Amino acid sequence: MNKKVKFQTPTGMHDILPEDQFLYEKIWALVDDVAKFYGFGKIMTPIVEDAALYERGTGGTTDIVEKQMYTLKTKGDDVLALRPEFTPGIVRSYIQHGMIALPQPIKLYTYGPLFRYEHPQAGRFRQFHQVDFEVFGEQSAALDAQIIQIFYIILKELKFSHLIIEVNSIGDNQCRPYYKKMLSNYLRPRQTSLCADCRRRFRENPLRTLDCKEEKCQRIRSQAPQFIDHLCEECKNHFKALLEFLDETDLPYHLDPYLVRGLDYYTKTVFEIFSEKTMEQTKEKGEVLQRNALVGGGRYDGLVRLLGGKDVPASGAAAGVERIVGLLREMQLVPKSEPTAEIFLAQLGDLSKKKSLKLLEDFRKAKIQVAESLGRDSLRTQLARADKLKVAYTLILGQKEVLDGTIVIRKMDTGEQDTVKLANVVEEVKKRIKK
Ligand code: HAM
Repeated sequence: MNKKVKFQTPTGMHDILPEDQFLYEKIWALVDDVAKFYGFGKIMTPIVEDAALYERGTGGTTDIVEKQMYTLKTKGDDVLALRPEFTPGIVRSYIQHGMIALPQPIKLYTYGPLFRYEHPQAGRFRQFHQVDFEVFGEQSAALDAQIIQIFYIILKELKFSHLIIEVNSIGDNQCRPYYKKMLSNYLRPRQTSLCADCRRRFRENPLRTLDCKEEKCQRIRSQAPQFIDHLCEECKNHFKALLEFLDETDLPYHLDPYLVRGLDYYTKTVFEIFSEKTMEQTKEKGEVLQRNALVGGGRYDGLVRLLGGKDVPASGAAAGVERIVGLLREMQLVPKSEPTAEIFLAQLGDLSKKKSLKLLEDFRKAKIQVAESLGRDSLRTQLARADKLKVAYTLILGQKEVLDGTIVIRKMDTGEQDTVKLANVVEEVKKRIKK
């Protein structure tokens, strides 16, 4: 009885503490900025959706749906899932709100938490955040290139220097069945040499075997027919156009003929962005292909129709925010934290404490950052704190000043002090710090 319980965050999930918030906020602000410039509107969809949306959209045989979805039954017997990715929810919203009737393309972006029941490890969590961009109603490879460019810009702005973009084309309904057949014919006599997962993948969707990280499967893969050699004319031209756009933008891409991505909806373009740093690290650990992508995406021309809408081409991608934050920390690219205080407010006695609350709000409205120690009474302790914070000025509000309606402004480097009217103090500070 009464045993002390020690609650912890659930496995694979973590708190984001105040000292880490600025990194996330910096990323959100940058993403908002880039999105605005490129004409993307922000969308927010529910954290839970019908589980069937992902079964159909993400794909019933994908790892995400088969193994990683958090599903729940509501009291009303609806089967819902915590969203494991954004794309199907955004497509649902596009259809539900009749966005097809608006001038196309429709460009949408979002960010927020997602849930996948993964085996937690470095860069792989059960709750994580993504930044996601989607474009609807545009077939041109120019839009695929723009999505790649946008994510590249975001990573560059965050000061990542060695980025590698891997691209491939996985064809469409015309050429994929033919390639799948060729791949099956190649794999069938080699089935017994594949890993257990790939033997299952071979039956469900042989393309997935190309993505396997097991060495024995990679050995078999290295002799397999390549998709890009068997694309239909339309897909070939689309891929050629994409590479030309990428050449024009000077993006450092690399062709990976085995990149297939682990979701069912892709057609034609697929891509991932890596940081060279992750590549080096995985090499050190001897896991040559166990790399963590920062960004993954591609074109998905059949998904809107599959989820009940019309034939609308679409393209998009998502970045893993925890992976970005983790690498920024490792590479010591952590940008400067919180705004630093410009002045310090020291108070002495109950009366001045009461006045301080209102005064702080006046400074907030004037956008002047003030530090304080409202819980402290000693002037010495407060001045020591002001010194440590390296503020230029400290305001001293004692009992006498409150009664006189004044306040002292102390210049910290010289120790000079002025007494000014309390009612004018914001203006007086503004003059001194030249705001
Ligand atoms: P995804 O490749 O499953 O694609 O995820 C995109 C990115 O999210 C990954 O590259 C990775 O950085 C991050 N990520 C995925 N799973 C985890 C995890 N368990 N822990 C931490 N980070 C993770 C999608 O989700 C597609 N919806 C992208 C897309 C948008 N395609 C078209 N539009």
